[in-house]
Amino acid sequence: MPNAITMLKADHVVLKRILKQLNEVTAPKQRERLVAQFEKAIKTHAQIEEEVFYPAFKARTEKTDDVDMFYEAAEEHHVVDMVLPALKAANPKSPEFEAKAKVMKDLIEHHVKEEETEMFVAARKVFEDKQLRELGNLMAERRETIEAMWESPVLRPVKKLQGVAHKILPTKVKTAKATAIAKAMEMEER
Ligand SMILES: [Fe+2]
Ligand SMILES: [Fe+2]
Repeated sequence: MPNAITMLKADHVVLKRILKQLNEVTAPKQRERLVAQFEKAIKTHAQIEEEVFYPAFKARTEKTDDVDMFYEAAEEHHVVDMVLPALKAANPKSPEFEAKAKVMKDLIEHHVKEEETEMFVAARKVFEDKQLRELGNLMAERRETIEAMWESPVLRPVKKLQGVAHKILPTKVKTAKATAIAKAMEMEER
C-alpha cells in the first residue's frame, strides 16, 4: 500500500522539474508543451490533495493550531488556480509569459516547501502509518480515475468541467466530506 506522504512528495519532484524546465526553455512550442504537462500534473495533484489528504488533515487537526496549515495551503492552491489560466493564456513568446512562469515556479516551490517541512511533519504526528497508507490507497484510486479522464478525448472535456465544479463546490460540502473521512477513521480506531 502506498503511503500518502511518499506519493505526494513524488508528485512534488515532478512538478518542480517541469517548472524548472519551463523557466529554462525559450522555444514557444516547448513552452506550450511544458505548460500542458504542468496543467495535467498540478490539477491531478491538487485534486487528490483537496479531496483526500487535506480534508483528512483538517479533520484530525481541527481543535489545534495545526489546522491553520490546512487553511493556508488551501489558499495557496487557490492562488495557483488563478495564475494557471493566465499562464495558459499568455503568448509563449512574450516577457509576460516568462514572468508568469517565474511566479508559478516560486509559488509552487514555496507551497511544496511548506507542505513538506510543516504540514507533512504534522501529519506524521497525527496519523498512524496504517492511516497514511489508507489515505494513499484512496489517493491512488482517485488518481487512476482522474488520469483516465485526462487520457480520454471523450472524457477530457467532462474532466475540465468537473475541475471547475470541484473548485466552486461550497466549503460546506467539502467540510462534510472531511468530517466523513475523520469519522470513519475514528470508528476504525475504536
Ligand atoms: Fe498542495
Ligand atoms: Fe502538494
